[in-house]
Amino acid sequence: MIPEPLSARAWALACGGPYPDPADLVGDEHFMALALREALKGVGHASPNPPVGCVLVREGEVLGRGVHTRAGDPHAEVMSLRHAEEGGLDPAGSTAFVTLEPCCHQGRTPPCTDALLRAGVAEVVVGVRDPNPRVAGGGISILRQRGVKVREGVLGEACGRFHAPFFKWILSGLPWVSLKLALDPQDRMGVPGFRTEVTPPELQALAHALRRASDGVLVGRATAQVDDPRLSDRWPARSLPHRVFRRVVLDTRGRLPATLQIWRRLEGQPCFRVLAEEARPLPDVEDLRVPPGPGGCSLRHLLQELGARGVSRLLVEGGPTLHRALLAEGLADELHLFRGAAEVGGAPIHLPVTQEWSRRARLSFQGGTWEILENPTLAHPFHWPPRP
Ligand SMILES: NC(=O)c1ccc[n+]([C@@H]2O[C@H](COP(=O)([O-])OP(=O)(O)OC[C@H]3O[C@@H](n4cnc5c(N)ncnc54)[C@H](OP(=O)(O)O)[C@@H]3O)[C@@H](O)[C@H]2O)c1
Ligand SMILES: [Zn+2]
Repeated sequence: MIPEPLSARAWALACGGPYPDPADLVGDEHFMALALREALKGVGHASPNPPVGCVLVREGEVLGRGVHTRAGDPHAEVMSLRHAEEGGLDPAGSTAFVTLEPCCHQGRTPPCTDALLRAGVAEVVVGVRDPNPRVAGGGISILRQRGVKVREGVLGEACGRFHAPFFKWILSGLPWVSLKLALDPQDRMGVPGFRTEVTPPELQALAHALRRASDGVLVGRATAQVDDPRLSDRWPARSLPHRVFRRVVLDTRGRLPATLQIWRRLEGQPCFRVLAEEARPLPDVEDLRVPPGPGGCSLRHLLQELGARGVSRLLVEGGPTLHRALLAEGLADELHLFRGAAEVGGAPIHLPVTQEWSRRARLSFQGGTWEILENPTLAHPFHWPPRP
């Protein structure tokens, strides 16, 4: 079991964090940090919608909280209004702190701007604008036109970082891609062709937060063959029954044996085999046909295909050949490096990562470190509107 403070920290890191602690902040920032804390509960469940968080406040008192946890279900604003009403509290005259601009369009649910107006909310504080072309400032304009005071950019950077996977997906159709690598102190991933325990068990348990925060996991053919992983989501926190976690394996020519563990059926965790050629079908495995490309199949087409299926966050767990290919094509957004103390052999992995990649976090845990680097040349902004 992972102790609670550590699992909460790991969860925040897996979701684009670390994030500000509400206990360290006062005023608007304190309440936006609470809204972000709500939002963190929706990651891994709301996709492809953004896991927005909302807190309703009047005279320093929290009246209601809400998070969006499932596409088609009410959004965070409506959930927090309901929460207040269920507690016998009237949200009229309150301030709503929302991590993302409220929506103003009829989707699977009615616009949140309507719900806020109907409830008589006096003020809306927005973390970051929604770049979705169907919103893009429209939610803020409608509220202002109807006499609601709107302020923007409170913890804007943190909210932008939190919602970056949604921004990328809505603007490009591609999922946010996180690469996870286990390294030894000399940047080695193990001897090719042999299964090696590179990550100490304590860190391995924390790394599972990354699977829970993702809509799917991808590995290369050699990794599936050598390590024979299940690639299942085993993060200990409870997940909701609607969650779908896709396990995806590159196998361009359908060469992997049918006996691998990955092909075994797992409830809520379907398995996909990525093929560029005809191959004999496998029971319980869905084949994804993508065009051939350098190194096997076209990774961009694969990401488009996954994005079209609602995968907005994809975790890649190797091996080195696949990581290098994604980095070389500019398709990776962040790197999670788990470093243990044991020497594992093999050659140091020289990743095509430029110096502009910046370190978002580095945390020492028992048995090793977890370092997170992010791609600075992202085609999509952490800030919306983008900085000049
Ligand atoms: N330390 C760690 O974090 C870690 C993690 C994972 C794996 N590993 C180790 O890494 C080794 C396996 O890694 P690896 O580098 O040999 O292979 P890999 O990256 O697991 O798989 C590469 C294979 O994926 C397929 N592929 C399809 N399209 C591709 C594309 N566009 N770009 C790249 N690959 C594509 C190709 O096979 P087809 O043409 O047949 O499709 C290619 O040969 C194992 O020894 C494993 O234990 C270590
Ligand atoms: Zn909404």
